Amino acid sequence: MYQLIAFDAYGTLFDVYSIGALADELFPGFGHALAQMWRDRQIEYTRLVTMSDAQPGGSRHYLPFEELTVRALRYVCKRMQLPLSADREARLMAQYARLTPFPDSLSVLQAVRSRGLHTAILSNGNAAALSALTVNTGLASAIDQVISVDPVRLFKTAPQTYQLLLESFGLARKDILFVSSNAWDALGATWFGLDVFWVNRMGHPFEEIGMPPRYEGTALSGLLPLLDRPVQSR
Ligand code: LAC
Repeated sequence: MYQLIAFDAYGTLFDVYSIGALADELFPGFGHALAQMWRDRQIEYTRLVTMSDAQPGGSRHYLPFEELTVRALRYVCKRMQLPLSADREARLMAQYARLTPFPDSLSVLQAVRSRGLHTAILSNGNAAALSALTVNTGLASAIDQVISVDPVRLFKTAPQTYQLLLESFGLARKDILFVSSNAWDALGATWFGLDVFWVNRMGHPFEEIGMPPRYEGTALSGLLPLLDRPVQSR
C-alpha cells in the first residue's frame, strides 16, 4: 500500500489558467493567450536555469519560482505588446497566490487523509508562495507537508527534486504515489522511479518519449480507488 500521496501544485491542485480571468479584465481579448504564454515561459525559465548549471549544490542561475514567474510575465507582456504597469503586475502576481483550486482538490486530499495516508505537495514553487496559496485557498489544513524544490536550487524534472519526497518522509520510492497533471512532471517522476497518477483532464496524448505513467485518469478523484488495494510490484 502507498503511505504518501504527493501532489504537484500548479496545474494539478490549482488551475494556473484561472489567472486568465483577471488577465482578460486588464487586457481585454488577450487574457487567455497571455495566461498560456505566461505559463509556458515560466516553465521554460525553470528548465533553462536547471539545465544550464545542474550542479549537486544547485544552479548558480537559480531564482525562486515566484521571481521567474514575474520575469516571465514581463517578458510575455513585452512580446505581446501589452502595457504592464506596476499596478497590473502587482495585481496579477497577487492573483497567483489565489489561483482557483480544481473542484475536487480539497475533497481528494481529505479522502486520502481519511484513509490514514500522508498528503504532500512537491512543487517548483518557493515556500512562501506555496504557503500563501494553500492558506488562501483553504487547502493547507489537508496537506501534511508542503515541499518546495528551493533547498536544492534546481527545478523539476531534476532527480534531486523528487528525491526530496523520500528524504522528507523517510520513505522508499515504492511507498509513494506521485500525482501530476503536467505530463512532463509525470514523466520526470516516472523516470525517477515513482508510481505516478497522471491527471489528464484535457484528454491529451501522453508524451512520445519515455514510458507512460503507471496510472492515468481524467480527474484527481480517479486516484482514490488505487488506495484501497495492494500495490502490485512491477
Ligand atoms: C509545480 C509546477 C511547476 O511544480 O507545476 O507545482
